Amino acid sequence: MRHLMSPLDFTVEELDRLFDLANDIERNPEKYAHACDGRILATCFYEPSTRTRLSFESAMTRLGGQVIGFSDAASSSASKGESVSDTIRIISCYADICAMRHPKEGAPMVAAEKSSIPVINAGDGGHQHPTQTLTDLLTIRSLRGTLGGFTIGLCGDLKFGRTVHSLIHALARYRDIRFLFISPEELRVPDYITDLLKKKGIPYEEVIRLEDVIADLDLLYMTRVQKERFFNEEDYVRLKDFYILDMAKLSLAREDMLVLHPLPRVNEISVEVDADPRAAYFKQAQYGVYVRMALILTLLGLA
Ligand code: NCD
Repeated sequence: MRHLMSPLDFTVEELDRLFDLANDIERNPEKYAHACDGRILATCFYEPSTRTRLSFESAMTRLGGQVIGFSDAASSSASKGESVSDTIRIISCYADICAMRHPKEGAPMVAAEKSSIPVINAGDGGHQHPTQTLTDLLTIRSLRGTLGGFTIGLCGDLKFGRTVHSLIHALARYRDIRFLFISPEELRVPDYITDLLKKKGIPYEEVIRLEDVIADLDLLYMTRVQKERFFNEEDYVRLKDFYILDMAKLSLAREDMLVLHPLPRVNEISVEVDADPRAAYFKQAQYGVYVRMALILTLLGLA
């Protein structure tokens, strides 16, 4: 039995097979419409979510399976004091696979240890968000043709953004990638990540102004300032609109640059950008369903 806690749980070759499967699902959805008949997915979400939870539910439903679960801690027995370890033992009796989101870093790992069904980390605090990373990698591979040989700018809250942390770890395994980290001083990417890049000899630069580097980028990964992880409101208010990608800034970028965003967006991308062909974030959300379908099939041993 396999779980998914980090994008590194799959080798690069396994990821390639997963993405091939996701692309096949995209082309031939009818082939997979009954692949999970009789199977149940539990979505245990102790933290708010729209895309991740609903894309898991959509993925399982499109595979012919069923879904049970809860979408906030207050409506689960966590509010009575039940531990994650006990909850997963119970969920293991009710479902065949579980996607779990939790505000505490490491909580899905604790669950996985006690689980008799595959557990998928659907985001743990500011730590990791592996299925968003699978979504991001599939989007990049599908729209650019390959993973590697590009300059990616990650912009916004690089300190608390778990999608960024997972994506950098995952991309560090591909060839010829250069990272540009674009953030205010207070939201810099954590040292443990830059240390990893240094150790692997992967080039990166840290800058503050998006305008200074946007022309160099093949990919721009925008992120939301993670309000819920701030310790005080004042800092959040000061930093929340630090970056706003509008048409004026986008006009400095290459014609073929792609703009990604895990969503939800707040103010960091103006809605006027949505109509530009470089805006790929809504397509990215669609790839999130295909990749979760492929992941469910793989972890259930049905691929
Ligand atoms: C992200 C998350 O939950 O970390 N959202 C998502 O799953 N697509 C990004 C965010 O909330 O900013």
